[in-house]
Amino acid sequence: MNWTGVARVTYCARWSKTGLGSKGCDVDELEGFCNWFLKNMPVLGAVPFAGAVSKIQDVTGILLYRKDQFQVQMFAVPEGTIIPEHTHPNVDSIEVYVGGNIMFSHSGKYIFPKGEVQALTGPLGCANKRGATIRVRPNDVHGGVFGEGGGVFLSVQHWLNGVKPHCVSADYDGLTMGEHHLAGVKYGEATAKKKLTAKDAASLEAEDA
Ligand SMILES: [Fe+2]
Repeated sequence: MNWTGVARVTYCARWSKTGLGSKGCDVDELEGFCNWFLKNMPVLGAVPFAGAVSKIQDVTGILLYRKDQFQVQMFAVPEGTIIPEHTHPNVDSIEVYVGGNIMFSHSGKYIFPKGEVQALTGPLGCANKRGATIRVRPNDVHGGVFGEGGGVFLSVQHWLNGVKPHCVSADYDGLTMGEHHLAGVKYGEATAKKKLTAKDAASLEAEDA
C-alpha cells in the first residue's frame, strides 16, 4: 500500500461534493498524505525489515512507513523527557498525538494549556485530544514536555530539498535532548546542554505552566 497522491484528489473531490466551498481543494500534499495514512494504514503499518527502530537519547522511534519523500515515524517518549525547541530544516511535518502525557509546544507556547488534555471517562481511559494534529513547517519552532507515564506521537513527514528521509531527529536545528542525540545530527546547527528545563521546550511560557 503506497501513497500515490491519488488520495489527495479523492479527498478534495469529497470536500467539494459537500458544498464546503472551492477552498476544499487547498489541501496540500502533506495534508493529503497524512489523511491517506491515518485512514488507510493498518495498525501493523508498513514497518520495513531494515531500520525499523531508532534510539535517540531515551526516545524510541519506530519507522511505520517510508516511500519516496514521505515518511511516518512513531515516537515513544518516556516520562521526564524534554524535547527542547527546534526546527527541522528539510522536513515539513504533521505531528499526531497518539496518547499519554504530552505538552506539545509550537512557536514558544503550549498547544493545549496545562490540564486541558485529560482522560476521557470510560474503560479505556484514552485522552480527549487523541488524534489531534499539529502542523510543523520547516521553520516552525516546536518542542515538548513529557509527564508521568510518558507519551506517544506520530510524525508524518514530507522531506524537502531533495533530502531523502532518515530519522527526523537528525535533521535538527536547536538544542538537542542530550549528547547522544547531538552525536546523531546529520544536518543543522545543534547543541547540547546538561540540564534541560520545561522553559527550553516552550520559551514563551512561564516555567510552571
Ligand atoms: Fe521536531
